[in-house]
Amino acid sequence: MSQTRQLAWQALRRIRSEASYSNLVLAKARQSLERRDAQLLTQIVYGTLRNQRLIDAVIAEASSRPLAKVNADLLDLLRLSVYQILWLERVPKFAVVAEAVELAKKQRGQAVAGFINAVLRKIDPSATERCLAVVPPDERLALRYSLPAELDSLLAELLSDAQREALAKNWCQPAPLVLRCNLRRNTVAELSATLCEQGGSVSPGRYAPAALRVEGISEPFGSRPYLSGAFSAQDEAAQLCSLALGTLAPEARVLDACAGVGGKTCALLEAQPQLEVVAVDRSERKLELCREHLRRLGLAAECKVADVARLVPSEIGNFDAILLDAPCSALGVIGRHPELKWRFQPTQIAALAELQRRLLESCWSLLRNGGVLVYSVCSLTRVEGEQQVQRLLDQQRDAILDPPNEHPFDQLWPTGRCGLTLWPHLHGTDGFFIARLRKIDEHFAD
Ligand SMILES: C[S@@+](CC[C@H](N)C(=O)[O-])C[C@H]1O[C@@H](n2cnc3c(N)ncnc32)[C@H](O)[C@@H]1O
Repeated sequence: MSQTRQLAWQALRRIRSEASYSNLVLAKARQSLERRDAQLLTQIVYGTLRNQRLIDAVIAEASSRPLAKVNADLLDLLRLSVYQILWLERVPKFAVVAEAVELAKKQRGQAVAGFINAVLRKIDPSATERCLAVVPPDERLALRYSLPAELDSLLAELLSDAQREALAKNWCQPAPLVLRCNLRRNTVAELSATLCEQGGSVSPGRYAPAALRVEGISEPFGSRPYLSGAFSAQDEAAQLCSLALGTLAPEARVLDACAGVGGKTCALLEAQPQLEVVAVDRSERKLELCREHLRRLGLAAECKVADVARLVPSEIGNFDAILLDAPCSALGVIGRHPELKWRFQPTQIAALAELQRRLLESCWSLLRNGGVLVYSVCSLTRVEGEQQVQRLLDQQRDAILDPPNEHPFDQLWPTGRCGLTLWPHLHGTDGFFIARLRKIDEHFAD
């Protein structure tokens, strides 16, 4: 148990001080633990990050020192201890306090241990309600569901109070593990049976035909089926991005313009293996991982390191279809990466929107007449989503909206909008914006 708490403390410190992704830090930390302890570690780290603002209010109430004066590493230890005391029923308070004090003493000495002890002993079950009662009513929702004030204001511009509360609440719950079945290697039914044999419970996705929601298996990525290419991890919203391209002509030339580690490149090729896919990203490291996934899944694509904003048709050629899954503020994946709540900087959105504009315009110049372009972002802001598409429509006479109408989009796609916005609290997926455009012959425009 104490090794688990020590690892939880280390993980929180790394996530905060090195700006690391929680899932990557946890995947490494879990390796040295038995299954039950690994689950507890995951629960403590994610739970602490998800509820950090409310936890901090509880600590501030109990601490003799202002929070800003508490050493950041010690604050991490206090946070994960308060999370266990107030959110986890199975661990008694005295055990949590004793272990935190022991850890603090071992690493920071007696005086620090005394401070940790004094704060944690004051925490009682009504602490959160007391903290909520003393804030102004219009700040209560953000405190209850641990939203930073600036993120709360941004959501208030996008959503009604009830919807904002539902989203904030969703972000305080664990995100589902969703897999994409590699239909070239096994059917959904076969993969379900394999996962059930491993102790998982499996249900079909809501929208994407190859999606499976899995519970009871937290780490299927070292398993033989994974290594032999039976499945990949991919949320349904991300699966819908490549599906939105629709069925393309066999051997169509397709650009995955910001391919990253190749999640969508692979999804596209699994569904339509004859396509000639060029996967571009400016990160060599990510494209190396993309090549690994392609090998594991038995697929082939050309991987090319380049700045998409500088691609020109005379060098890379034209494409029949383009998927631009652009870099963004990633607000849609907060449920999966709760640390992103605490890294949210509203001022970065304008710079990202400018980058998205340049990438979109560049991709447009690479698209053949009659070709289709899917633009997606795992963000929920209008400036990164609808407004990007609207600007392209305003500026390019040969651009029209071309909403996909085959299943599952016939049920999902809104009319009269630039694209589809998927909301975690409404659709049960990551948050995404997806639009589809077609390039028409300019002579026939208007
Ligand atoms: C949202 S991620 C893509 C995720 C990927 N499509 C997937 O499904 O795994 C955005 C990607 O854009 C890449 N990127 C950012 N700016 C770029 C640029 N100017 N040219 C090419 N790639 C860029 C980043 O390296 C990152 O991998």
